[in-house]
Amino acid sequence: MIGQDPEVAASLLRQGKLVAIPTETVYGLAANALDPFAVSKIFAAKKRPEFNPLIVHLSSGDEPLRYVRSLSPKAGLLIERFWPGPLSLLFHKEDNIPDIVTAGMDSVVLRMPSHRQTQTLLHLLDFPLAAPSANMFKQISPTTAQHVELGLGDKVEYILDGGPSTVGIESTIVDCRTDDPILLRHGGISKEEIEECIGPVKEHLKQNSNPMAPGQMDQHYSPSKPLFLVQDIQKVLNDDNYNSSIIAWGDLSGVDAKYVYNLSESRNDIEAASNLFKMMHLADSDRTERIYAEILPERGLGRAINDRLRRAST
Ligand code: TXA
Ligand code: MG
Repeated sequence: MIGQDPEVAASLLRQGKLVAIPTETVYGLAANALDPFAVSKIFAAKKRPEFNPLIVHLSSGDEPLRYVRSLSPKAGLLIERFWPGPLSLLFHKEDNIPDIVTAGMDSVVLRMPSHRQTQTLLHLLDFPLAAPSANMFKQISPTTAQHVELGLGDKVEYILDGGPSTVGIESTIVDCRTDDPILLRHGGISKEEIEECIGPVKEHLKQNSNPMAPGQMDQHYSPSKPLFLVQDIQKVLNDDNYNSSIIAWGDLSGVDAKYVYNLSESRNDIEAASNLFKMMHLADSDRTERIYAEILPERGLGRAINDRLRRAST
């Protein structure tokens, strides 16, 4: 059931049930992070391998030090600058975080979402929420309540509808266990913004399929038809365009195809991120046989967008 009442969501979560929640990045499938049985239902619903750990979502009144052993000075700077917002941080965990949340590892990823309704919900609860994106394992991430309903509707008691996700792409993840933070996943806060705050960061982006290196599954965000990446969309156009959906940006007036999805006419990376999953869902459900997606310049949120497109590609 889709609704807009945080009280209903809170009451179900207190009973150990699953609720889909809106966030500024993508919708999450949430359970009481401190209740291992409730959390186990997330894995069952998503058909997600249990070795993939979950992000713990905090209310803006919560104190991260309740759940993690220490905060480095740079972690403090990131928190001050970007929380609440689309930035997730990896720390050494405290014992109150159950093993099922972290896949048995001694680290936990925390995030404080900025979405107003989800913050209202978190303030009603006396526990944080474990939540992965609210899609079936490997499917395209949901940015509306309707996406969640289509993918997981029969598996979730309540979908809290908070409108379309404004950022539209998952949070950036930074490993803050040492004094030198490491970027683990490109997302809603660009690498440039992070470096402006704390100086140069290394990258350790997980791209292989080693289950011990989470965040890493090569295939992800899979549309049900083949998706091909192209450097320049104008160059692949041919007679068969009417069988292809196009995802690109900029001036596409010369693109002669039936289904053209423009991420951002003005080539704005923030606008493009907010449209990405919505347009992937649309391209996946229109009547063509394949999708051509154009790679964006590797700067700002273009990096996060390209990462998602690469994982979706055939
Ligand atoms: O924007 C987001 O981050 C969304 C919303 C719902 O908050 N959540 C999200 O969750 O994208 P999910 O589960 O789809 O992706 C979380 C990523 C996974 O790749 C997981 O492996 C990684 O974070 N992760 C979580 N806990 C970890 C840990 N302790 N160590 C390493 N990686 C971890
Ligand atoms: Mg996900």
